[in-house]
Amino acid sequence: MEQKPGGKENLFVYVAAGVAALAGLLFGYDTGVISGAVLFLKDQFALTSASEEVVVSAVLVGAIAGAALSGQLSDMFGRKKIIIATAVIFVLGSLATALAPGVGFLVAGRVVIGIAIGIASFAAPLYISEVSPPNIRGALVSLNQLAITCGIVLSYLIDYLFAGRHEWRWMFAVGAVPAILLGIGISFLPASPRWLMSRSLVDRAREVLGKIRQKDDNIEEEISDIRRSLTEESGGWKELFQPWLRMPLVIGIGIMFFQQITGINTVIYYAPTIFGFAGFGSAQVAILATMGVGIVNVLMTVVAIKLVDRVGRRKLLFWGLAGMVISLGALGFAFNMASLSGALKWVAVGSLMLYIASFAVSLGPIAWLIIAEVFPLKIRGRAMSLSTMCNWAFNLVIAMTFLTLIEKLGKAGTFWLYSGLGIAGWLFCFFFVPETKGHKLEDIEEHWRAGKPPREL
Ligand code: BGC
Repeated sequence: MEQKPGGKENLFVYVAAGVAALAGLLFGYDTGVISGAVLFLKDQFALTSASEEVVVSAVLVGAIAGAALSGQLSDMFGRKKIIIATAVIFVLGSLATALAPGVGFLVAGRVVIGIAIGIASFAAPLYISEVSPPNIRGALVSLNQLAITCGIVLSYLIDYLFAGRHEWRWMFAVGAVPAILLGIGISFLPASPRWLMSRSLVDRAREVLGKIRQKDDNIEEEISDIRRSLTEESGGWKELFQPWLRMPLVIGIGIMFFQQITGINTVIYYAPTIFGFAGFGSAQVAILATMGVGIVNVLMTVVAIKLVDRVGRRKLLFWGLAGMVISLGALGFAFNMASLSGALKWVAVGSLMLYIASFAVSLGPIAWLIIAEVFPLKIRGRAMSLSTMCNWAFNLVIAMTFLTLIEKLGKAGTFWLYSGLGIAGWLFCFFFVPETKGHKLEDIEEHWRAGKPPREL
């Protein structure tokens, strides 16, 4: 089915992608906002390192639960209804955290927001991929990562604007705005035709396809394609653990492990705190420097999207991980000097910038891309939701241990530890991650069936 540029479905895909962008934006906003807010929460509620970690991590506990439920919920109620429900939860959670009378209430509100993030991080891209014409489906995976990074910058900007007056409540409240837009936006979009078919609502699926495809597209052919893939995709949880599927599972979970364990979210959630360690006195200046980190993250994600299909996934991973290892080493070095002052302060800033640029061009978008590519159709849904759950769980481990590690190992030791894990990540990518660039998904499946090692793809 050739897609004609400028046709009616192109307009629809823009609208649908815009709505997906709002869900990704909320993912980024609600995870990033804590970095600035925590500076003031610490004072207001006299948080210890341990309770600060709980405040930062609460959203992740919710996200693990949300990601675990997302597959079943979106099959049961449909993608559209589930996304509307998450928008409502986002609004309520934002208002509850903004009005929180105490730290317990705040943590509960953040867990609730986390549940919405966990569901949305799976359901929104799923919805978009199911309404999109096949020729642009791949690009949308990386578009989601771009929206996440934009949401993070937006949260830093809002944190900065309210930091001067120490108004952490407004930082949380603003999150309700994109959530309201998401709820309204998705209400105007049709239900996913693929989900309608899975519920045997063939006539309604045909009606929706009639609206979102061009006149000369063969809708009956698409309907029978969907019907065929629905029978192929009936793989259960047991199927996931067959011997020939072990390798893609190791790759999917492994790449999520290294995406998180190399410390990205210590930077995303704690950047102002790290800049504080490095000697930047005021919270506002630290948040401003953090905004620089967020902007580099967005720009380098755009670079990654442009390069990933030309240079390939493996090369970007090798270069990116090398940059992460070096910058983490340098950051450790900067903190190892007796008193971090003058030039060393700038070594810390430079290292963090290099680190985020290296992440954004490699593990950031590519980890999500790889889990969308390496699994055979039959188990793709379940395997992707398992990998997403693992991503949030590894994220939680890092967020819950960062400040404790700083206390136990010292700042230099902590960043050197992440640097060492980056070396392990480099080796993992070298031996386990296949070059999927330009391969049909069916070829990748054949490769696993033949029992061949990933590097030979
Ligand atoms: C990761 C998030 C991270 C974000 C930063 C995503 O790919 O999954 O944990 O906060 O990138 O840009």
